[in-house]
Amino acid sequence: MKELTREELKLKFDSPIFHQISQTADELGLDCYAVGGYVRDLFLERPSTDIDVVVVGSGIKIAEALARKLGKGAHLSVFKNFGTAQVKYKDVEIEFVGARKESYQRDSRKPIVEDGSLEDDQNRRDFTINAMAVCLNAARFGELIDPFDGMTDLKEKTIRTPLDPDITFSDDPLRMMRCIRFATQLNFYIQDETFESLTRNRDRIEIISKERIADELNKIILSPIPSKGFVDLDRSGLLPLIFPEFVALQGIESRNGRAHKDNFYHTLEVLDNISRNTDNLWLRWGAILHDIAKPATKRWDQKVGWTFHNHNYIGEKMVPRIFRNMKLPLNEKMKYVQKLVSLHMRPIAIADDEVTDSAVRRLLFEAGDDIEDLMTLCEADITSKNSDRKQRFLNNFALVRQKLKDIEEKDRVRNFEPPITGEQIMEMFNLPPSREVGALKSAIKDAILDGVIPNEYDAAFAYLLEKAKAKGITYCGE
Ligand code: CTP
Repeated sequence: MKELTREELKLKFDSPIFHQISQTADELGLDCYAVGGYVRDLFLERPSTDIDVVVVGSGIKIAEALARKLGKGAHLSVFKNFGTAQVKYKDVEIEFVGARKESYQRDSRKPIVEDGSLEDDQNRRDFTINAMAVCLNAARFGELIDPFDGMTDLKEKTIRTPLDPDITFSDDPLRMMRCIRFATQLNFYIQDETFESLTRNRDRIEIISKERIADELNKIILSPIPSKGFVDLDRSGLLPLIFPEFVALQGIESRNGRAHKDNFYHTLEVLDNISRNTDNLWLRWGAILHDIAKPATKRWDQKVGWTFHNHNYIGEKMVPRIFRNMKLPLNEKMKYVQKLVSLHMRPIAIADDEVTDSAVRRLLFEAGDDIEDLMTLCEADITSKNSDRKQRFLNNFALVRQKLKDIEEKDRVRNFEPPITGEQIMEMFNLPPSREVGALKSAIKDAILDGVIPNEYDAAFAYLLEKAKAKGITYCGE
């Protein structure tokens, strides 16, 4: 966070585009201000190319005049119903909006009435740190208007609403998610009164679309330490409303003095671990969901204690329902998450046992190009507090990684293409499409993965003849 004097702030806006906006506003005799995230991010020294400008009067008028002034390179879009207009110029996007008395929501479908003063507009914004404005008119260029002392909140790393939080949150309940999202992204503290209001108003989240909730949740997940956001979502009571399957991981049960770990906190630890190594949102989702079926598969066994058999397979099956409910994409991203969930036990099983070539080959074949990501997930999954145990796992994983590399170089099974296709088999033995053909094809694949034959045509051909003969199928070639 950097405090800026009036002169320094002025310098921050000393670029041709802001001077053009300034001139346009003065020519039209309208007051206009940079506001919101752009101003906040200047002080936080976070680069931003999305500029929000609030105009006391018509935002559309200024946008139109500015686009004319900028000429060819400018692209103007007007949203008449919402009273907003956007100008794209070079690498910046400027959104113009008339000051309003009503709540500001960028993606709201509600029409907007342009009838407010700057003060009205600032009152209706979500957080004090997002309600600061900088004047762009020439006479007051660079002047900061900060009626709720957002500067102090920035310095003290505090999220607080400008008005009574019950009003701010009921104006737009998505702001409850935004509150936790900003606190997580920026590592800020949520002021007590604001947090209490989150708890009080949590049920109102139900009127918000799942897509908008998912957008905010994904921003929490992409933060440096995402567990912070999930802990806040849990403490405020929002988490059960937006992601009940995750809450079901909570709790420890103990029988005959044997307790299992709390899978909620374990999962959060895995998520934080993986977030140090990847910014891939879907790999982070893989971490969130890797143990999601543990509650559904938990059993007590007299001999071994708590078991979670098949939680990886059941988890894989649970993913589509969760993605559908949360309006996450039902495409190859989801399939990738399913694959990670289903395979997440395999490297550990291999590392725990003797690392055999054939186990490594099979893993490579099933994980394909996602093998690296799977290993990253498995390494993040080691949360043992016993440092010897942890080191042993990490050493074994290093061994698995080396083996993966050696075997891939030798056998190329990562993107396995069978050396003999089903069509070729049909032709060779004059067979119609049938289960027989499938069985012969799998026999070749298994022989290669198990290291019985190399991944080559001649060896596969000889093996195929042998297999077919044993089954009494005659070869039709010479
Ligand atoms: N805003 C608000 N209530 C909302 C959404 C937005 O009051 N539900 C206001 C805030 O003043 C915010 C500004 O609109 O700063 C711009 O919103 P948006 O672009 O969504 O967020 P940013 O603050 O710019 O942050 P980010 O780009 O990280 O989403």
